[in-house]
Amino acid sequence: MNRGFLSVGSANRDMKDGGSRATRKRQAGERAAEMATDGDVVGLGTGSTAAYATEALGAAVATGHDITGIPTSYHSRAVALDAGIPLTELDAVDAVDIAIDGADEVVDGDLIKGGGAAHTREKIVDAAADRFVVVVDDSKETDVLSHPVPVEVVPAARPTVMKTVRDMDGEPTLRSAGRKDGPVITQHGNLVLDCDFGPIEDPAAISTALSTIPGVLEHGLFVDVADEIVVGGPKGVQVRSTR
Ligand code: 5RP
Repeated sequence: MNRGFLSVGSANRDMKDGGSRATRKRQAGERAAEMATDGDVVGLGTGSTAAYATEALGAAVATGHDITGIPTSYHSRAVALDAGIPLTELDAVDAVDIAIDGADEVVDGDLIKGGGAAHTREKIVDAAADRFVVVVDDSKETDVLSHPVPVEVVPAARPTVMKTVRDMDGEPTLRSAGRKDGPVITQHGNLVLDCDFGPIEDPAAISTALSTIPGVLEHGLFVDVADEIVVGGPKGVQVRSTR
């Protein structure tokens, strides 16, 4: 296996503050960036933890390394441009070598994503990658997935999707925008329903059921997609293989 080109040596740095959550996220992101290899096409995830990885990749590019990024959202594109990473898109490459992305909740290799309403593109890019590395701080790990599942819905289908989710014993909530009246509108012009199913004992079954509802573009359950989970915790970074 190729060795990653990065050696930022920061995985256990900055622990003097007791390991704040931001520090743990940064450590996880930087460790994951070390897994990329010169010449790689890298899927660039969305969110604060993935942004640390993107910034570390940008630092490598600045020192002459050959990395090309595929952003998963408007946000990750902006972070990558700031970091100086050359960008491309899926239709311009033969393969995505590695994707590095965050998560809202993790159990083994199963995830809930979509806190940034970017899960549709994230799933496309992450699933396309030869190696999908998840970066989280330890607050994201749990025994059973129970975070509300973000579901991107074509606006006209909102009432019917909400009814079907309720029939599945879920409670859907239309995601409201933070600094705008009305709902969050995704990059694809759709709505997001955060669907609370309580503890999800069978993620694959819920995933399949959500995917088959007419009007659902994509949902934030990522079942058996991740190859490695990089966790920033109080004692530094742990890397777990899911395979
Ligand atoms: C965006 C995502 C993010 O990766 C997820 O919300 C985690 O974000 P953060 O690293 O900021 O906690 O899925 O759609």
